[in-house]
Order: sequence, then C-alpha cells, then structure tokens
Amino acid sequence: MDVNFEELFESKLAKNDIIEPKDWMPENYRKHLIRQISQHAHSEIVGMLPEGNWITRAPSLRAKLVLLAKVQDEGGHGLYLYTAAESLGTSRDELLDALHTGKAKYSSIFNYPTLTWADIGAIGWLVDGAAIMNQVMLQRTSYGPYARAMVRICKEESFHQRQGYEVMTKLSFGTAEQKEMAQDALNRWWFPTLMMFGPPDIESPNSDNAIKWRIKRESNDQLRQRFVNQTIPQIEYLGLICPDTNLKWNEAKQGYDFSEPNWAEFKNVIHGNGPCNKERLVARNKAHKDGEWVRAAAAEFGRKQNESQAA
Ligand code: 3HC
Repeated sequence: MDVNFEELFESKLAKNDIIEPKDWMPENYRKHLIRQISQHAHSEIVGMLPEGNWITRAPSLRAKLVLLAKVQDEGGHGLYLYTAAESLGTSRDELLDALHTGKAKYSSIFNYPTLTWADIGAIGWLVDGAAIMNQVMLQRTSYGPYARAMVRICKEESFHQRQGYEVMTKLSFGTAEQKEMAQDALNRWWFPTLMMFGPPDIESPNSDNAIKWRIKRESNDQLRQRFVNQTIPQIEYLGLICPDTNLKWNEAKQGYDFSEPNWAEFKNVIHGNGPCNKERLVARNKAHKDGEWVRAAAAEFGRKQNESQAA
C-alpha cells in the first residue's frame, strides 16, 4: 500500500500529534524549524554577553551568584536548542559559522547596551518576561525536540524573570537615586522589549506557515498585547511610569492601547546596525576561538573512548 506522507504529516498536525526527527516532514517545515530554532539558540548565547558584563560589578555576593547562575542557564538553553536543531540534519559548526559571520539573526534585544545595574533588573523582568510570554506556547510546538527543550527552558526563564523583578523592586523602593536608575532602565528597555515579539502580524512573512504547522500557536501581535497587559500592573506596583505616552486602558478590548515601537529602528538592528551588533559579534567570535582547545580536548577524549570500546 502506498503511503501518502504529506497526508500523514497533515493528519498528525490536525490531531495535535508531535512530529519527531525520524518522521517524514516537508522540506519547508524542516527549514523553517532550523531557521527559528537556530536563531533562538543564537539569542540565548549572545544574550549571555550584556549580562556577563555585570558579573564582576554585581552589588553583593548574593546578586553575583544569582546573576552567574542565570548567565550559565542561558548557555545551557543554547545547548538544548542547538541539539534540537541538529536533530533536523544540520550541524552545530554550520549554525555557529552563520552566527559568527553575521549571516544568522539573533534577538534584536541583545544589541542594546547594559549601562547600569538597573539594566540587569530590566533585562530579567522585561526581556525574560517577554521571552517567557513567547516560549510558553513553544512548549506545545509541533516538533518534539523543540517542545521538550522549551519545557525546561521555561522553568528557568521564570526564575530569571523573578530575579529581574527582585532587582527592580529593590531599586524602586530604595533611595531616590536608585528609583531614578530603575525608571531610566525602564525608559530604555520598554520599546526594544516590545520589538522582541517580531514585526506586526501583517508584516510577518513567516507567521502564516508557523501557525499552519503549529510551530507558533499565537501571533506576534497577540503575544505583544498580552505582555503589555501583564506588565503595566507590575510597573504600577513599582511606582514607575511607562514611557509610552499613548498608553491607555481600552475597556472594549479589555487590554491596553499602546504605541508601536519604532519599526525602522528594529529593521536597522536586525540588519546588523544596532548600538552593539558589532561588539557582540566580536565578543562571540573571541569566545569561540578561546574555546577551541576545549572542543579539541573533548573530541580527542571521545575518540579515545570509542577506540577503547572498540578494542
Ligand atoms: N530579533 C531579531 N530578528 C527578528 C525578531 C527579533 N526580535 N523578530 C523577528 N525577527 C526576524 C525573523 O527572524 C524574520 O527573519 P528571517 O525571515 O530572516 O528569519 C523576520 O524578522 C520576520 O519576522 P517573522 O515574524 O516573520 O518571524 P518569525 O515568525 O520567526 O517570528 C519570533 C519571530 C517571534 C522571534 C519567532 O522566531 C520565535 O518565536 N522564535 C523563538 C523564540 C526566540 O527566538 N526568542 C528569542 C528571545 S531571547 C531569549 O530567548 C533569550 C532569553 O534568555 C531571554
């Protein structure tokens, strides 16, 4: 009996079944996943850089330990995600090469500088908060290895979000100068955080396929709206002011109306021209080169293990 693989794939999606690496899948589905998962993996490891910058300057030993753990978690997230991408038939070398040569995208947000300790609070609270908003749905994405990686990642991101909110709480309820630092960080991170969800739905070339294939279950605009609705009460609790002067509760939609971020700035950042793009690529390339001996030693160890098992 002839099997119609395309129909089988569609019927699995219709039943909310998970697609596994050995299952047949359309080539465009595979490519779409490699694109998204690898961009996500790159975001995790580039995301270590702006925060890593503050490990030596954390204001207490406790703050340092927590930040160190958070930055290590991000490295681990990169690892799970590269492994999920590799299960689609690509290699880690190929993916990293695309990142290091500037061909691959990673989240726009990590191209902004961390100027003060309050930025570490704002990143944990807003950036990780936005990441979770997007990633909770990815725990139910249609590709098994990606969905499973996201379960663990979401647990850790939720701890990161609390770490950031704790820093913001301390600053907001601290001295006038500390509160001013918190407000300044909110002012600078608010709109770049809204950009993390991607372009408006009508300008998002990948969304239709992503929704059709159940890779994404909600659209960029839906998630952005939910993030704003959830975050405004937190801003109010902190006694801070949202930098969006058009922000207004809309009773009819039971959500806030808010200003669009500057999409021209977004395009500029994702095409390599944000405030820190060049610095991030230099730092990533250096870290990769510095780790060369570790990779060589690990490969040699693996080779020797295989040899002794074969003997
Ligand atoms: N930064 C950089 N590029 C972005 C972007 C952003 N914030 N938002 C969209 N883009 C890019 C897309 O990658 C796409 O480029 P491509 O076609 O060349 O690949 C283009 O802009 C058009 O966007 P679309 O809306 O059509 O793209 P997607 O459907 O892929 O949606 C997305 C974008 C919402 C980011 C989606 O890819 C996604 O959900 N990715 C998984 C989650 C993820 O990557 N999160 C990174 C957040 S940071 C993080 O997790 C680290 C943590 O520690 C905080």
